[in-house]
Amino acid sequence: MTFPLPTAFAIRQVAIQPPLVLAPMAGVTDSAFRGLIKRLGGVGLIVTEFVSVEGLTRGNLKTHKMMKFAAAERPIAIQFFGVDPGRMADAAEIAQEAGADLVDVNCGCPAKKVVGRGAGSSLLRDLPHLATILRAMRRRITIPLTIKIRTGWDDNSIVAVEAGKLAEDCGVEAIAIHGRTRMQGYSGWANWDIIAQVKRAVSIPVIGCGDVRQPADALRRFRETGVDGVMIGRGAMANPWIFRQTADALRGAAPYRPTLQDKRDVLLEYFALMLDECPTETAAMGKVKQLCAQFTKGLPGGAAFRARIFHAQTRMELTDRIADYFTRMGEREAAGELLPEPEEAALEALPDDACHPAACA
Ligand SMILES: Cc1cc2nc3c(=O)[nH]c(=O)nc-3n(C[C@H](O)[C@H](O)[C@H](O)COP(=O)(O)O)c2cc1C
Repeated sequence: MTFPLPTAFAIRQVAIQPPLVLAPMAGVTDSAFRGLIKRLGGVGLIVTEFVSVEGLTRGNLKTHKMMKFAAAERPIAIQFFGVDPGRMADAAEIAQEAGADLVDVNCGCPAKKVVGRGAGSSLLRDLPHLATILRAMRRRITIPLTIKIRTGWDDNSIVAVEAGKLAEDCGVEAIAIHGRTRMQGYSGWANWDIIAQVKRAVSIPVIGCGDVRQPADALRRFRETGVDGVMIGRGAMANPWIFRQTADALRGAAPYRPTLQDKRDVLLEYFALMLDECPTETAAMGKVKQLCAQFTKGLPGGAAFRARIFHAQTRMELTDRIADYFTRMGEREAAGELLPEPEEAALEALPDDACHPAACA
């Protein structure tokens, strides 16, 4: 069966148009990155990196800062991880008061630090406790509550359908599924058949996630599974225009092709934002180096560029090296050499504990 391509969906009163969602990525999708993605266009919903309810409800300032967002990012979901129903409900209320459009519960993080405390994907091993958390949160807020899960803990305990139905019973109004188990980490491929099973089993919107790296991947998943939305994570780091390109493709238009100048400008804009946001220049440079590494995968000279970027010691050196790389690429392009698009590049598998250690604190 082939499903029609959607142009939008809604989570109660919150319109998600186009039906494309920026995945939460700890250490990556901070307010600056989210703002940049939003400005490039095509994203219908943004989710914050996961926020610790322990930190938030104990008044940790760094955690409070992680919850901050700009009005331009809306509609936005604030994602929480935790295990204590009371604290989860308190955090949900804080998010609602801060103006969030949605509150999301992380039931997918594989990091040992998180699952060791019974949070993240550990919640999939104790569905009655998950239900207690969801009911407590549901009672406390009036805005929609959503969850993001993996398919299960391991291949012997695939619970996505059961968790989806249970969430719906608890008043959850949308469910995002990353089609891997906790034990899989980021290895292999996301199982979209399980995502399709959940879509068939529940009546709330289902957002599929996993390995969407090009607009064609998203279109295929919409057609094959009938999901309401597609969520993109690592693909957005390699190609922040992927939402705009996919939105173009969903309406039958030719996907936007960013120029080399667009790419250079985005990296330099991100660097300027990071210098404002980060406590130190070194921290800002670290963030930019991380994005540069993803951004230039598959581009000619990308490996040499990444090495040069990695060794840059000062803000000036880093800026010059970024500008220099794109100038040289421009010369190659002008000379008629074909440059592959970054989304055509193979993305490296991420380590098992891909959550950013700082954010897991
Ligand atoms: C660096 C990194 C950090 C992540 N942090 C979170 C997080 O905070 N919350 C969450 O629900 N998922 C998190 N994820 C999982 C992504 O949201 C997404 O489900 C996963 O990367 C699969 O989608 P993709 O193939 O499009 O990247 C993270 C993934 C990565 C790569």
